[in-house]
Amino acid sequence: MPRVALVTGGSRGIGAAISNALKDAGYSVAATYAGNDEAAAEFTKQTGIKTYKWNVADYAECQAGIAQVEADLGPVDVLVNNAGITRDAPFHKMTPEQWHQVIDTNLTGVFNMTHPLWPGMRERKFGRIIIISSINGQKGQFAQVNYAASKAGDLGIVKSLAQEGARAGITANAICPGYIATDMVMAVPEKVRDSIVAQIPTGRLGEPEEIARCVVFLASDDAGFINGSTISANGGQFFV
Ligand code: CAA
Repeated sequence: MPRVALVTGGSRGIGAAISNALKDAGYSVAATYAGNDEAAAEFTKQTGIKTYKWNVADYAECQAGIAQVEADLGPVDVLVNNAGITRDAPFHKMTPEQWHQVIDTNLTGVFNMTHPLWPGMRERKFGRIIIISSINGQKGQFAQVNYAASKAGDLGIVKSLAQEGARAGITANAICPGYIATDMVMAVPEKVRDSIVAQIPTGRLGEPEEIARCVVFLASDDAGFINGSTISANGGQFFV
């Protein structure tokens, strides 16, 4: 039986590349999405990967959605917490709503997805939790107090889960992508984006597939001794 992988935000951007790479590596893959029905339908048509719509910020929706995925594909072995949003604004203009939207999706969403899956992984003595954090969780970013806080929080989650899951054969790791050519980065004003690319020693944005390959490795048996780690994939823009 192939292992089952669940990728949140898995029908677009970095998530779509992750879903595809896991499928190519032999996993049975389910991808969640929050709102863009058209993109999800097109993704399923192109790849054959089944998509499920729910809001990771809602615990009950995660419980119900996960139950449906497990009924369709079997117990989830690999969870990739990739779903994330930005609501950028300089701090003096940031609204409580912008703060809560980002924290609820990017940080609480990780809790909401991981918590219902944890008991099953513990029982089966195998699991892989992979969180897509961000370079901006490591270094902070102008206009991203909310986003940087959520992504830094992700790093605390993996370091703690790593200690709790290790004896049950579960690993938890984070990947911190730098600036990757996705809709999220393309939404940054062009002038600002150009100045960001100028700070990347590699001289270009990253490709979603460059993150997906890290995920496939962390999900594999070969990565069993890697636990609580953070892999930076940012073209040399920032060193921890
Ligand atoms: N550093 C220093 N100053 C900056 C800055 C930066 N990175 N970005 C903008 N500023 C300055 C501007 O020059 C401007 O200054 P002046 O008023 O002196 O001209 C000021 O901040 C902007 O003020 P505004 O009132 O115009 O700001 P705004 O309310 O219109 O907001 C913005 C604009 C949201 C900050 C916009 O510039 C923006 O989106 N910046 C990009 C933020 C960013 O990098 N986000 C990352 C998104 S990608 C991602 O998150 C994926 C990932 O994980 C890597």
